[in-house]
Amino acid sequence: DKGEFKHYMLKEIYEQPTVVKATMEGRLANGRLLEQAFGAGASEIFDQVKQVQIIACGTSYHAGLVAKYWIEELVGIPCLVEVASEFRYRTVVLPEGTLFLSISQSGETADTLAALREVKDKVLASLTVCNVPGSSLVRESDICLMTNAGPEIGVASTKAFTTQLVALMLTTLALGRRHGLTEEKEIEIVSALQTLPELLEESLAMAADIETMSAAFAEKQHSLFLGRGPLYPVAMEGALKLKEISYIHAESYPAGELKHGPLALVDKDMPVVTVAPKNGMLDKLKANLQEVQARGGELFVFAGDSNELKQEEGVQVLQVPEVPAILEAIVYTIPLQLLSYYVAVLKGTDVDQPRNLAKSVTVE
Ligand code: M6R
Repeated sequence: DKGEFKHYMLKEIYEQPTVVKATMEGRLANGRLLEQAFGAGASEIFDQVKQVQIIACGTSYHAGLVAKYWIEELVGIPCLVEVASEFRYRTVVLPEGTLFLSISQSGETADTLAALREVKDKVLASLTVCNVPGSSLVRESDICLMTNAGPEIGVASTKAFTTQLVALMLTTLALGRRHGLTEEKEIEIVSALQTLPELLEESLAMAADIETMSAAFAEKQHSLFLGRGPLYPVAMEGALKLKEISYIHAESYPAGELKHGPLALVDKDMPVVTVAPKNGMLDKLKANLQEVQARGGELFVFAGDSNELKQEEGVQVLQVPEVPAILEAIVYTIPLQLLSYYVAVLKGTDVDQPRNLAKSVTVE
């Protein structure tokens, strides 16, 4: 039931403060992670992990890309991420001590499942971050962490993504403990996570401004999405959302790649969307944005500090609530979901059931 909402997608976007809470429920105590959440035998598995191989498709793949930044920064072990349809058909080298981590909303995605079956006997263990209890990936993996997002009806994944990110942060903590992530740091991350529902609630309050902003996209054929660091996969996810439901061609790039090609595309008909939290990469990002501006490109910036990025001719800046660095990727996802939603509504597409797509891709 959609209740007061016009579409399931919008309902699911607004459920995020509640469902991220459910992802953490019973899994944190005294400011720390309870690793029993991963099931029996998980602790012994985590003790032996030397590297992580993440496999997923679509939105779940983007969640994996964010996790790579977290795992390599906070755990300090190698983390590889690949789409399942490539991984399963090529010769892969899996060093000893590899944890195979699949990410899937449905738990039934054919390529992801096939990848698991392919390497099951060649890896240390398999963990799945999944939303559907009893699904094939859950049954066939050694351990699992459920995302607890509840059924997701909209084909465009929203709450599944943010809850996957929370589950992946918990996974990062479990691994980090064994590799020098201090108790102090763990407590700091957990207390940041506990503020997440409130921060998501605040970011949803951007909806009205984003709806206004969406008018600028309705007539466009193409768009670029830019981000840096863990916000690069967030930009990828924003671009996927826009193409999926509004049928506008959207491409994402790490902002630093702009000069290496995509800048040639920029003109007044190419809106450029950027996620720009206030962090160490902001100055670099600002320089990238100036390059766009100088070519007459129209900029739409979701900024952590709107004083740093001035609203002016050709530049629209929307302030995102201030968030701890560790939560940026999760919180900045919200405005991009809302943007794609409102653009699709303006274009009159079938938001919950976009053309040519199925909710669960159980065939190749
Ligand atoms: O159920 P899964 O998470 O394994 O599905 C993977 C993709 O098919 C899925 O994320 C797809 O990309 C979504 N429609 C994106 O919104």
